[in-house]
Amino acid sequence: MLEVIVGPMFAGKTSELIRRVERDRYAKKRVSVFKPSLDTRYSATHVHTHNGLSYPAYIVPASKEGVEEIVEKTLEEGYETIGVDEAQFFPLDLVDALDTLAARGVRVIVAGLNLDFRGEPFETVKELLARADHITYLTAVCTVCGGEATRTQRLIDGRPAPYDSPRILVGGKEAYEARCRRHHEVPGRPTS
Ligand code: TMP
Ligand code: MG
Repeated sequence: MLEVIVGPMFAGKTSELIRRVERDRYAKKRVSVFKPSLDTRYSATHVHTHNGLSYPAYIVPASKEGVEEIVEKTLEEGYETIGVDEAQFFPLDLVDALDTLAARGVRVIVAGLNLDFRGEPFETVKELLARADHITYLTAVCTVCGGEATRTQRLIDGRPAPYDSPRILVGGKEAYEARCRRHHEVPGRPTS
């Protein structure tokens, strides 16, 4: 089973991932959580939510080698359920790897951003969505109007980050806000 949890930042993706993994742990299943080492927010041995929840996790490199580690560890330890957080930071190799684990009977719960601050898809998550058996699209609250937010606004010194700003910038509330489509601003975005 391949379950994918997507949405903007502050939507509760990591909380939902932890909730599902924790339920299986209560059911005496062998469970584990993995996350890429790029995300150094708060601490390096746990996954963290924006509301202060945390859960122990294996930290693996955000590379092909890191993806291989997830597969090896899962098979070696015989995990029945695994969570993978921040999927957007892994290369496309993650997709085949998790698909294969799911085919072997592992319950794979993967969470990540479907869109970057520009409002463009993260390829790895896009491919995971295409292969998913089950998709959960969480939304957040727009910080401008209180409406349903499906986008993540990046702010640099309180101002919207331009389109050509680097794609990867690890951060939380100091650099990002959830926004609805109408209030999502990307100065310099090519108009189509
Ligand atoms: P979250 O989905 O758990 O809130 O974390 C998302 C992480 O991704 C956070 O560290 C900020 C980072 N990020 C980028 O690197 N680039 C982006 O375009 C966006 C929206 C987030
Ligand atoms: Mg998260």
